[in-house]
Amino acid sequence: MNNPAPTQYPVIEVIKHRWSPRAFADKAVEPDKLRSLFEAARWAASSYNEQPWRYIIATKDYDAAYQKMLGCLVDANQAWAKAAPVLALTAISTQFKKNGKDNRVALHDLGAASAHLALEATRLGLIIHQMAGVELEKVKQQYGIPEGYEPQTAIAIGYPGEAESLPEGWMRDAEMADRGRLGFDEFVFAEGWGKASGLF
Ligand SMILES: Cc1cc2nc3c(=O)[nH]c(=O)nc-3n(C[C@H](O)[C@H](O)[C@H](O)COP(=O)(O)O)c2cc1C
Repeated sequence: MNNPAPTQYPVIEVIKHRWSPRAFADKAVEPDKLRSLFEAARWAASSYNEQPWRYIIATKDYDAAYQKMLGCLVDANQAWAKAAPVLALTAISTQFKKNGKDNRVALHDLGAASAHLALEATRLGLIIHQMAGVELEKVKQQYGIPEGYEPQTAIAIGYPGEAESLPEGWMRDAEMADRGRLGFDEFVFAEGWGKASGLF
């Protein structure tokens, strides 16, 4: 299934086709493709080129490692993410290496890296679904996250599946629902906060 964004202005194809479904096909992701995803993440811009993002990955072919990661997701996410052949956890480095000061944009840069990853995934015919619903303390303990790093999110990665594979109810409905976004007047301002730009 795909659910392209009803864009009002032209954008590159992968932006139109990236989305976050929950139905995954029972199909492994080729290691070459996984490598490309992290290559894309690697080339995101970051403040002082500090690259504060970190990823921990688990694939279904190593069941113990996969179950350990799945167990770090909140139950509502486990319910659908268990079908994804690849899971990843993300973390940030909280201080700049260059001067030891807090990196207040580390989470911003992780977001940029993960957005790169998402678009590369779309190019490769894969889907990813990012999750804030993660047991962060569990991640810290189970993966020995060192001081100076903070776990943040998880990502399910795989090939698109059929909406019918999801349980009936909100999860399946969400998969079929129209996609929505704020209007430009709600997030692009000019002259003052909340003042719509005349660009649109
Ligand atoms: C940082 C982040 C955290 C998210 N957390 C969850 C989550 O815990 N569970 C979930 O089902 N979806 C989660 N999502 C998916 C969003 O709900 C989804 O991206 C949003 O509805 C927009 O839909 P789209 O990605 O298909 O455009 C998350 C997305 C992001 C970027």
